[in-house]
Amino acid sequence: MATANKKDTMLRVDNLVKHFPIYRGLFQKQVGAVRAVDDISFDIKRGETLGLVGESGCGKSTTGRAILQLYRPTSGKVDFDGVDLVHLKGEELRRTRRKMQMIFQDPYASLNPRMTVGAIIGEPLIVHNLASGKEVEDRVKQLLELVKLNPAFSSRYPHEFSGGQRQRIGVARALSLQPSFIVCDEPISALDVSIQAQVVNLLEELQEQFNLTYLFIAHDLSMVRHISTRVAVMYLGVMVELADRAGLYESPLHPYTKALLSAVPIPDPIAESSRKRMILEGDVPSPANPPSGCRFRTRCPIAEKLCAESRPEFREVTPGHFVACHLVK
Ligand SMILES: Nc1ncnc2c1ncn2[C@@H]1O[C@H](COP(=O)(O)OP(=O)(O)OP(=O)(O)O)[C@@H](O)[C@H]1O
Ligand code: SF4
Ligand SMILES: [Mg+2]
Repeated sequence: MATANKKDTMLRVDNLVKHFPIYRGLFQKQVGAVRAVDDISFDIKRGETLGLVGESGCGKSTTGRAILQLYRPTSGKVDFDGVDLVHLKGEELRRTRRKMQMIFQDPYASLNPRMTVGAIIGEPLIVHNLASGKEVEDRVKQLLELVKLNPAFSSRYPHEFSGGQRQRIGVARALSLQPSFIVCDEPISALDVSIQAQVVNLLEELQEQFNLTYLFIAHDLSMVRHISTRVAVMYLGVMVELADRAGLYESPLHPYTKALLSAVPIPDPIAESSRKRMILEGDVPSPANPPSGCRFRTRCPIAEKLCAESRPEFREVTPGHFVACHLVK
């Protein structure tokens, strides 16, 4: 069936690049660029959660923002439901944006402290002219119920809530325009461990109820294991591996993924006792001046001469398992 095929891919990212210019001196001459995202390609399937993992500064948030056009890409294509977002402007972009929302890491900084919870959640509806007056009030109450908060809370202010509750308010706001795709940018990293699972469970329930598609960003692999359908690993502006959950956790191929996984404790005590931790030597190089060839070569335990000479292609080595490494056969 044609619709079954269409169901597969919701978002296709091709050769996405986002560089931030660096200016210096009296005349603010451009002296270089931070290569935050440097030519990445992948897709996100309808209804899935794609986990996106990597160390601080590797370009995860920039990827999320460039997909949503909150940062305009330097080059590349972002295709959302058959629409090329990079070239959309004005009203068309505004309308398409309703379908794509973002949930932020810091539930303290991302909510305006001077607005009531009702105003925060209802604001997108008013800005997009989708409701007014009593309609907004009713919708806000519904949204609060959806995220399991008391609807009577709508007249309170963000400071009256705990971190977990504030993150629920952020989720309610993101849902107000009935999006189909949400970038969850480290939504649980700032929360207590005891609260993290509650927020993850809520996101999963909402995904099921509204057939939502998620890009779920986190800095370590243990955080996305439970929620992800597939997982992508980034290093210094590039994607190094992408596979379904079982493929990535059970048969990682890239040396960087292997190193990250070696730091994740295994629940089985026998396996845990024989876990060998791989410590990566050295610091992450600057994205303003990345190494030639393979970006990971300055820290890779098995690097060879070729690794400095050419950039490994991000290729599909077994169906659905992509990796960028010269030495993976
Ligand atoms: N608006 C900006 N202007 C200039 N440089 C930026 C901007 N946003 C991000 N960068 C730089 O781009 C690189 C990637 O940043 P990004 O925020 O995407 O990383 P991240 O993987 O989300 O990190 P974290 O885990 O710390 O959130 C970093 O070197 C960062 O300093
Ligand atoms: S291409 Fe070379 S440096 Fe890069 S991950 Fe593979 S072996 Fe290591
Ligand atoms: Mg980030």
